[in-house]
Amino acid sequence: MTIKSKIRTIPDYPKKGIMFRDITTLIKDPVGFRLVIDNFTQRYIKGDVNFDVIVGIESRGFIIGGALSYTLGKGFVPVRKKGKLPAEKISHEYELEYGTDIIEMHKDAFTKDTKVLLVDDLLATGGTALAAAALVEKLGGVVSEMAFIVNLPDVGGEKRLKEKGYKIFALTKFEGD
Ligand code: PRP
Ligand code: MG
Repeated sequence: MTIKSKIRTIPDYPKKGIMFRDITTLIKDPVGFRLVIDNFTQRYIKGDVNFDVIVGIESRGFIIGGALSYTLGKGFVPVRKKGKLPAEKISHEYELEYGTDIIEMHKDAFTKDTKVLLVDDLLATGGTALAAAALVEKLGGVVSEMAFIVNLPDVGGEKRLKEKGYKIFALTKFEGD
C-alpha cells in the first residue's frame, strides 16, 4: 500500500479541467493515516530540520498538524480563515483563482525568531502556503520547512516557493498524471 494509491482523483471538480486530489480516502484508512503521520514523524524526529512549533493551515492542514504535534512533542498553532480567532490577531490577504481570501493567526502565537514547521495537506499554486509564511514572518518567525502530503508541481507552487527560498517536503506527488 502506498500513500499515492490511496488518494482519490475526481476529474472536473470543482470545475472543468481540474483534477481534484482527495485525501479523505487516504485518511479514512487507519493504515493510510498512520503511514502519513509515521512518514512525517520519521523525517522530523531526527532533528535535522530545526523548528520549535508546528503551524497548520485550516482546514485540512489541521488533520496532519495536530497528529504530528503529538508525535513530535511540539506545540500546534492554527492559521485560521478570517473571523474565527478570538484574541488579537494578524491577517494576510492572498489571491485565489477568483478573488481573494484572508487568513489569520493570533499575535501571541509565538515570539520573535521562533522556528516553524508549516504543514498542509496539498501544495498546488502555493498561494496558501505563501500567505501562511507571510503571517509567520509578520510575527518575526522563520519558516524552517513546509511539509505537505501531496505536491502538484505542474500547478507551479513548488517552483514559486523554492524561488522565494522556502524548503519544501512532500510525501508524494502527481506530475503529468
Ligand atoms: C486547499 C488545500 C491547500 C490549498 C492548496 O485548501 O487544502 O490548503 O488548497 O492550494 P494552493 O497551493 O493553490 O494555495 P482549501 O483552500 O481548498 O481549503 P480547506 O483546506 O479548508 O479544504
Ligand atoms: Mg487547505
